[in-house]
Order: sequence, then structure tokens, then C-alpha cells
Amino acid sequence: MKVLVIGSGGREHALCLKFSQSPKVEKIYCAPGNGGISKIAELVDLTTGDFTELADFAKKKNIDITFVGPESPLSEGIVDFFVSRGLKIVGPAKDASKLESSKIYAKEFMKIYGIPTAPYRSFSSVADALNFLDGWEENKKVVVKADGLAAGKGVYMCDGRKDAHNAVKKMMEDKVLGGAGSNIVIEEHIDGQELSYLIFTDGISYSVMPASQDHKRAEDGDKGLNTGGMGAYSPAPLATNELNEKIERDIIRKVIEGIKAEKLDYKGVLYVGIIMNGNDPYVLEFNCRFGDPETQVLLPLLETDLLDISRAIVDKRLSDINISWKKGAAVCVVLASGGYPENFEKGFEIKGLEDITDSDVFVYHAGTKSENGQIVTSGGRVLGVTAIAGDIKSAVDKVYENVKLVSFENMRYRKDIAKKALSEVEKAQD
Ligand code: GLY
Repeated sequence: MKVLVIGSGGREHALCLKFSQSPKVEKIYCAPGNGGISKIAELVDLTTGDFTELADFAKKKNIDITFVGPESPLSEGIVDFFVSRGLKIVGPAKDASKLESSKIYAKEFMKIYGIPTAPYRSFSSVADALNFLDGWEENKKVVVKADGLAAGKGVYMCDGRKDAHNAVKKMMEDKVLGGAGSNIVIEEHIDGQELSYLIFTDGISYSVMPASQDHKRAEDGDKGLNTGGMGAYSPAPLATNELNEKIERDIIRKVIEGIKAEKLDYKGVLYVGIIMNGNDPYVLEFNCRFGDPETQVLLPLLETDLLDISRAIVDKRLSDINISWKKGAAVCVVLASGGYPENFEKGFEIKGLEDITDSDVFVYHAGTKSENGQIVTSGGRVLGVTAIAGDIKSAVDKVYENVKLVSFENMRYRKDIAKKALSEVEKAQD
């Protein structure tokens, strides 16, 4: 079978690698891909927005199934377009992608279907938003969110009324996020640990993946600027069987009921971002795709053939297959360019990749390209190094031993990935 993966980051490298492990996959193409992906897939020189050219390519090469990595093409309707051309593709249709591409839609959906989420108001006028904030306690934390997609930059965590006023003005008056901030959500802040629950779904049935945890801040101790994600681990020890059952009962089943009731054409991966308020889970956000870097810890643990899962999703027969996961744990550490997520230099040679030889360690390329036979840096997040092991502590030790083997100029990474997981494990043992 021939597979086309759309996207160019660490998530797409993990997808291509997983597809390459299927005995049924004879050829993988990736559009546009990156330097690391080029070792296992043929790169296609098209961007994720070139729907006509991508569909023509899929027709010409007799692609059996296309898998979409990032949110933008989904929210712009790539699935609807491929389906209209008779092509099989994994991902939600444009309407269903609104669960991610409109925060207002997602909040309304949660309200209708009784899914726990922070209390909120939505605004399309700056005057109304500022008026509402005038009634907010001066020093009470509050979250201001852009309604539209903003590449991870659309959420402002504000310390109180004044800070929130500034956030509203930046989004709605100064248009720092363009059209994405024309409408906004203002919601109560919840302090707690975050968990990512991803599910495979064909819109009728679903299968929940092991819970994972991302590390969004640039610096150790969850300090510094927000990034696309500096590391992840799975399964998250915080996600006890009891909590998993609660989340499935009170959140995931209700989301699927809502998808059915709204007649959304959802065939793909749904990411449910959770925040814990004490023992109670609340939904922070939905993403209509695999998370990055969560994918880089989930797929190495997946035992079932990803091609079988993908085909079952598009044919709406997900309930026919049993999805199984390896025992043990996976930890991913992202190696980033110095200065990321702000300004950084690129084009540095990456050394030591050939020194990573452990078959339980995977190096996923995110911002790299091949230049004169060398792999060089080409983005902010450059590589994701993932290790799998029998338990989370061994996976942490293994990943950091291997991270030390790689280098490039100004390379930086967090030294505390999965530290919270290790504390949870210690707490459970006390
Ligand atoms: N890890 C967060 C995201 O993929 O959006």
C-alpha cells in the first residue's frame, strides 16, 4: 500500500516511521517533509495548502491513504477536498475541525453536551470585552484566548484585570494575531497539571491512547516563554485507572455523543487537552489531530499497525480492531535552536546522530534539512529524541544519555522533562 503523510515536523516523522514499520506499506511519501523524513519517505515538494496539487499527486501515484498531521490544512478543508476527488484520507472534515479552529465553537459545544470546562464569555467587540473585564477582580487570574488558529500563540494567561485589558487590546485592536483574534474567549483560570488524552475515532466509536503530558514552557521548572512543546512523556502516572475512567465517562463519551448529534464528519485523531482542578478534570481545548510532541511518545508505544487503524478509521469500522500498546513508558526531549521560541539562527551542522544506536531510541527530525550531504538545522525545534523503557525513570535516564551524543551550535533543551512524572511515581510509592 502507498501512504502520503502531510506535514513537516517531528509528529510527521513519527507518523512516517510508524507507517514504515507496517509490512503492508510498500511506499511512503511526505509533503513537504524534512531532512530526517527523507531517509524513510520520498519527499514531495508541495506545501500543506496546495490541495489541488496534493490530490493530483495522490491520484497520479495511486496513493491508498493520506494522513494529515497539522491543523491548518484540516481547518481549510483538505479532507472535504480529497473526499470529493474520491481519495481516502485520515482527518476530520472542515466543519468538524472547528473543534480546534474556533475556540468559541468548542466552548459552545462543551456547554451543550455538558462537558466540564472553565466558565467563559465570548466577545466580538472590544468595548464589550473591556466592559466585562471592568467587573473582574483586580488581581484574579484570567485567560484571554483568540477564537481562531494562532500557531500556539493564541492564549494569554493574565495576572489580573489590567493584564487582561492589554491582552484584549493586543488581539482585537492591534491585531497581533491577525484575523484569529477578531473574536475572543475570556475564561476563568484553573491552576493545575495538564494532561493530553488523544483518541482515534471514526465518529462512531473511539479508542483512547495512553495519557501523555507536554512541556510547553521553554525553560526548566515550567518557566520562560510558551513554545510548541519542549518534551513529553507517556503514560502519565497522574492518570490513574480511576482518573482515566472518569475522563472517559464524563468527557470523552460526551464528546463522541456531541460529534454524532451535530453530525460532524470526524474521522481521525481527536486531542482532548485536560487541566486538573484538584481531582476534577476540565477540558482546556480540543485539537483535531495528533499532538506534537505527544505523537513522538505515543507512536513508539503503539503495537497495532497504524495502517490498519487508519484504514479502519476511514472505512468507519474502528470498532472491529483491537488497539494495543506496549507496556513501559516513553520520554521525548526536544532539542531546540538557541533563542527559540524567539529569534534564532539556522543552518548549523548536526553532529553525533550516527552515535545513537540503541533500537529503543528514536530521533525525530522537526526543523532539519539535508544540505550538501549533511543534516543542518532549519527551525526552532530541531529534533525530538525519544527513548522507550520498562518504566518512566529508565526512559528518562536513557533519553538524557542519548541526548548528550548529539550537538549543534547553540543547542538547548530542558533538563527536567518528566520530572513531574517521577514525583508522581514517588508519591504513589510513599
Ligand atoms: N502539544 C500541543 C499541541 O500539539 O498542540
